[in-house]
Amino acid sequence: MASPAATCILAWALALLCVGTQGADPAACVFPFTYKGKVYTDCTTEDSDRPWCATTANYDQDKAYRFCSEEAYGGNTDGEPCFFPFVYQGRTFHTCTTEQSHGAQSWCSTTANYDTDSRWSYCPDTMLGGNSQEPCTFPFSYKGRKYTACTMDNGQRPWCATTSNYEADHTWRYCGMAAAGGNLDSSPCVFPFIYKDKIYHSCVAVDDKMGRPWCATTPNYDKDHLWRFCLSKAYGGNSSGKRCTFPFIYKTELFHSCTNAGDKMGHFWCATTQNYNQDKQWSYCPDINALAMMMSSNPDRMPF
Ligand SMILES: *[C@@H]1O[C@H](CO)[C@@H](O)[C@H](O)[C@H]1NC(C)=O
Repeated sequence: MASPAATCILAWALALLCVGTQGADPAACVFPFTYKGKVYTDCTTEDSDRPWCATTANYDQDKAYRFCSEEAYGGNTDGEPCFFPFVYQGRTFHTCTTEQSHGAQSWCSTTANYDTDSRWSYCPDTMLGGNSQEPCTFPFSYKGRKYTACTMDNGQRPWCATTSNYEADHTWRYCGMAAAGGNLDSSPCVFPFIYKDKIYHSCVAVDDKMGRPWCATTPNYDKDHLWRFCLSKAYGGNSSGKRCTFPFIYKTELFHSCTNAGDKMGHFWCATTQNYNQDKQWSYCPDINALAMMMSSNPDRMPF
């Protein structure tokens, strides 16, 4: 940043970040903010080679900023990625929140249910932004369509309106990244899916400004507008998203990789203990390798 005060501000910001790691919170990004008379709704690389944000609404006046964190950090998970949507105090969150308990910084749950799991991280600043810090309101209407989840429509990143009528109120924010959109049970990806008339057989980063892979959660994005970011680790199921255990026994077969056997929707899953027949504990498989999974799922037959 080309400001004469930059060096001092940098030292100040770093000092705050250092304090931050010892327990106190560094100043939070404030969106939207004004810089050189222009309004910014998320972290920017304007005049800088690293994304930054102002920590007051008016940089021109206050000259206060921080470099944006690009990954989740801290919390009680040592910076595990956010999981969206998540449940907190019985409500569903599609975005990071500053509500209670974790100070002024936006935080997120790292599992689908904070109430039961109590696992959290601070959110990456680059995930935040918009012109409102209120929670998403679902459904909201936008250009004559009703949205029940965050959308990629007309944006380079998923967003939601924070009132039920975008046309009237124009308040919005960016949605979180892990499993934004989709349903509360974090519907798995569906492959292949159609997006803008093209067929995709795996997660794609197309049209995401930050290059994050995503997938549709129904066979046709163009029709259903349901999607989510792809996860590179196991999730959902009924063992709190535990990792797959390979090989595992299911019915009379030994599985060395994820399978869609027995899943009505054809979603790929794995057991999280060695013997599914006995323990019945499972997770959905990481989305990222779904294609490889489909090609390699040849189970061994069990000798019983
Ligand atoms: C886990 O899911 C399986 C399959 O739906 C079910 O049979 C089993 O009872 C579930 N176990 C628990 C602890 O929820």
